[in-house]
Amino acid sequence: MNKRLIRETSTFFKEKFNQASSYHILSPGRINLIGEHIDYNDGSVLLGTIDKIVCFAISKSNTDVSSIIAKDLGERLSFRLHDNSPKEKDGWIGYFYGVLDELKKRTLRIENFNLVFSSNIPMGSGLSSSAALECGFGFALNVLFDLKLTKLEIVKIGQQAENNFAGVKCGIMDQFANIFGQKNHILKLNCHTLETEYHRLQLDEYSLVLLNSGVKHTLLDSSYNNRREECAQGLAAIKKHFPQVNTFRNCTENQLYQIENELEKTIFKRCLYVIQEINRVPQAFDALKKRDYDKLGKLLYKSHKGLNELYEVSCSELNFLVAHTFDESGVLGARMMGGGFGGCTINLIRKDCETAFKTKIKIAYEKEFNIPLHSYQVNLSNGTSCIQVEQIATSS
Ligand code: GLA
Repeated sequence: MNKRLIRETSTFFKEKFNQASSYHILSPGRINLIGEHIDYNDGSVLLGTIDKIVCFAISKSNTDVSSIIAKDLGERLSFRLHDNSPKEKDGWIGYFYGVLDELKKRTLRIENFNLVFSSNIPMGSGLSSSAALECGFGFALNVLFDLKLTKLEIVKIGQQAENNFAGVKCGIMDQFANIFGQKNHILKLNCHTLETEYHRLQLDEYSLVLLNSGVKHTLLDSSYNNRREECAQGLAAIKKHFPQVNTFRNCTENQLYQIENELEKTIFKRCLYVIQEINRVPQAFDALKKRDYDKLGKLLYKSHKGLNELYEVSCSELNFLVAHTFDESGVLGARMMGGGFGGCTINLIRKDCETAFKTKIKIAYEKEFNIPLHSYQVNLSNGTSCIQVEQIATSS
């Protein structure tokens, strides 16, 4: 599927710019097995990059204008690199300007370029299409202009583009996964120290399936920044009583309960969720390593319950999808994934039940919400990479 996307992006580039593209950058979407809303609370998360990508075709431009074409949307942005007038922040354009802005802050010099991008990552579905745009673009400019950015710098440029330009105070996990993902591996990222550990995913008779609720979220609309603020308030209150606690990582539930009466109910719930989710991640990683899928499944369900009842970032469609798995003996666990308020659920399913389950839940969901339900198999792939034109013929 990606082979076709790459070829079509490349051909389209040639047609529009009358030159061949020099590089093709493949920038994947990501899954988060567990560890939601804790990247900005210093927890660890279990990530993977998937075989759904944004493909960028890029070349230097021989005019004094740069152009970016969003092939799938039929939209084009042309601009002069050194034009300092205020820039559009909405939609895909904001992510590109955001990255350019971060490069400018670092006084990295680039020249004019032409770019086409096309994607098969469903947008706004919790698969981090925005990080794929930001990091893929940063990666593309790095290659084209030999900027000598490290992988981690590209991650940070992507994150800061989102924080500073798009205005979403996201954590680091989406951009980190996008760049550091490895084929067939789950990446455990400690978001406090940025230490990583890779684990080859072997699910034996199980597989991971995503169900896309079709409810699109944008993180700004979804009170994401507000959740961050609530957590910061909670942590400040905890620190006042327990100065030894410097992050949620070393705060216990017991400590939180000791100051329950002094916290607003909402703040208390947010903190409780964060502390519990931070503790679930190492348990889940351990379960993965021991191939204890029952345990892993239970942790997914607990994570969803916390996200719904304590963190309050779920919605009726996601809850329906998760609740419909309770009586399915072949499903070991499910939870909403990503920022929330829409997007996908991630499900741990026994392979031999998968087809029947997908058919059944599709019928039930569409009857209830009148929204088409799409499902995707999770195939863990590599993080953002560059392929040469000659490689296109052989890419998968
Ligand atoms: C979005 C953000 C991430 C993370 C998740 C929730 O995807 O971009 O940084 O906070 O939500 O886990």
